[in-house]
Amino acid sequence: MRITFRLIFLMFIGITVVALLFARSQVKTQKQELRSEVERRADLLGEGLQEGIEPLLQKNSPREMQRLVERFGHRERLMGVVIFDANFKPEAMTTGLSSHLGDLVLAARPAFDQDQASGEYTTLGAIYAHIYSLPLHSDGNISGTLVVVQNASDILTRSDKIWRDTFFHSLVQTLLIALITLLIVRWSVVGPIFKTAQWMKELRTRGIHLPPKLPEEELFKPLMREATHLAQSLSAARAAAEEEARLRDASESIWTEERLRIHVQHKLKDRPVFVVSNREPYMHVRRGKGVEAIVPASGLVTALEPILRACDGTWIAHGAAEADHETVDSHDRLRVPPDEPQYTLRRVWLTREEEEGYYYGFSNEGLWPLCHIAHTRPIFRSTDWEDYQAANQKFAGAVLKEMEGSNEPTVLIQDYHFALLPQLIKRKRPDARVAIFWHIPWPNPQAFGICPWQRELLDGMLGADLIGFHVQSHCNYFLETVAQALEARVDWEHFAVSRSGHVTRVKPFPISVAFSETAGADPALKTWDRASLIKELGLNVSHLAVGVDRVDYTKGILERFHGVERFLDKYPNYRGRFTLVQIGAPSRTHIKRYHDFQAEVEAEAERINWRYGSDGWKPIVFLNTHHSHKEIDPYYRAADVCLVTSLHDGMNLVAKEFVAARTDERGALILSQFTGACRELPDAIMVNPYDTEQLAEAIRFALEMDPEDSAVRMHRMRKIVREHNVYSWAASLIGELADARIERPEAVRTNGEQLGSAVGA
Ligand code: G6P
Repeated sequence: MRITFRLIFLMFIGITVVALLFARSQVKTQKQELRSEVERRADLLGEGLQEGIEPLLQKNSPREMQRLVERFGHRERLMGVVIFDANFKPEAMTTGLSSHLGDLVLAARPAFDQDQASGEYTTLGAIYAHIYSLPLHSDGNISGTLVVVQNASDILTRSDKIWRDTFFHSLVQTLLIALITLLIVRWSVVGPIFKTAQWMKELRTRGIHLPPKLPEEELFKPLMREATHLAQSLSAARAAAEEEARLRDASESIWTEERLRIHVQHKLKDRPVFVVSNREPYMHVRRGKGVEAIVPASGLVTALEPILRACDGTWIAHGAAEADHETVDSHDRLRVPPDEPQYTLRRVWLTREEEEGYYYGFSNEGLWPLCHIAHTRPIFRSTDWEDYQAANQKFAGAVLKEMEGSNEPTVLIQDYHFALLPQLIKRKRPDARVAIFWHIPWPNPQAFGICPWQRELLDGMLGADLIGFHVQSHCNYFLETVAQALEARVDWEHFAVSRSGHVTRVKPFPISVAFSETAGADPALKTWDRASLIKELGLNVSHLAVGVDRVDYTKGILERFHGVERFLDKYPNYRGRFTLVQIGAPSRTHIKRYHDFQAEVEAEAERINWRYGSDGWKPIVFLNTHHSHKEIDPYYRAADVCLVTSLHDGMNLVAKEFVAARTDERGALILSQFTGACRELPDAIMVNPYDTEQLAEAIRFALEMDPEDSAVRMHRMRKIVREHNVYSWAASLIGELADARIERPEAVRTNGEQLGSAVGA
């Protein structure tokens, strides 16, 4: 209330000062007008009387003069008239003026002396009066003075009235404005503040998450934004604390983000961490007139961000988005996450040609099909290879620059885009601990052997101290490839390669997802229900299947569609009752094979829909746009079955995301036997996606499975994903690397300094 009073008080002062200034000028003008009026009247009357009096004065007839004076002397506002002779003796005078004779003589004297009319304002008794004197002549000489006295108190009365009116007006105005201000403050400011305070109290005491509903005005937007973040941070902190407590209670040793943070700090001490990936964790895109940061759909951010946050590390990635240039500083760096900056993102720029050859060409037309073996022929162009080498060099330059001045940095390189990077870094910085994690499969040595630059790729990778794959068989294939292609000593006992005196360990680290026991319980996120989701899709079905993929030929999307087609063929009673919702984010469409594949998927969905579809029902709904995690979540929760039918996949996180989303422990997972995930999830319904008949049967089995059996399977799968979550993946990767033995370099120069020969083991 204090603020309100202060506001009203200041407003009162302001309004009053303005009103007084205004009144002052009004009074001045009004006074001038009234005075001119009085003076004009005096002038007129004086001149009229002068003509009549002068002959009478000459004739010396006081009686007539007195009569004349009496006749005029009682007009409105006229107090009277006096005629003085040359000695200022009154010849005639209006009765009532005699008591002011002295003052009148004084006023008349200047007119007589200077032989010209004069006027002045004075107070006669208690009356404010105007005295107008003009000389009287006879025979060309001054023979007396005529004095006209007018009551001018009207001028004062009117001025007083203006002052009074102004005072009342400003009082009323102030009261009115104060009242309006009070109401505005109450409705628009005090109300929302009160609501916010109330919400904070509830947030603190009862754990309500939804932010308060504040008016949608600019003023409240920052407050709303911060309130939402506060609620999210608090509920995340609460959930983490509850989770920790629950885990302690159950004596389990499940990894959480907080535990990973402590682990990283403990393992790395003050050694800085650098992550390198092609895809950046935050992309700046244009939205209308503004720029917005978006997180690309990838499990990588969830996995690596806690590490970087724990030690304020640096993530180096290709700045590929349209507004990326605008958001970095002069060193191409920015602090992220945008809402709560905790580590540095360093962007590396590539020319169109470099991107074309390195990313689209060698990485995605060469290595991707080479490693996946999904019957798409790899394309190896020497120009792409040159761009790939150049891009790896460019990234190495950026990493080395960022590492300047640091001792024993830790470098986590991600994926097939950077096979040459470990060696490029290690050559310059032998003190660095370098790991490369290969997120895609590693094929058998014969398959990999078709790559014209397999030796260079293997050499580059073996620069690392640690190479990670998702599963053991990929490690084995890698070691076999090395044994066949290079002169190196493969230590099968310890899964390590020794080449030119450098040892590289090769280990499986099955990646996973963040698993939250309370996921989906947050009322702020529960904006859907199964029935309305199905209705929104324009369907009316009792059985829902879901598939979530980038539109990539390795994902077995066409095989999945064929499975659905066969299922409807064999079991016609499901027609009209079953639909597969295929969420398919367009991917790498600049590459012809992807472009064509996108069209094939659309055409196949259309063909099957045309074949079986009927009014109000279609077997396949193809949602061909990018969906965020938050948007996909309701589909996972609503589905009776999730179909993961990759032809070959390093891990496949969709399978684990689906399991993590099913807090209700319901729903079935159909999983390709060619995914890394199938080794960890034996309770899924395993399929060979090339076997259409088997796929059709698997769909029927999943839909008709005994609910108890289904719940038991889901319970077991959830236990595995819970225990082997993404934090445990990151923890074992960082733990293994931190414990890796680093060879003693002869001499290492960093920043012109000579490092000691012993580098920590
Ligand atoms: C795979 C790769 C990732 C890649 C992702 C998306 O999961 O292993 O490295 O980021 O696909 O592909 P994109 O080419 O869009 O980055």
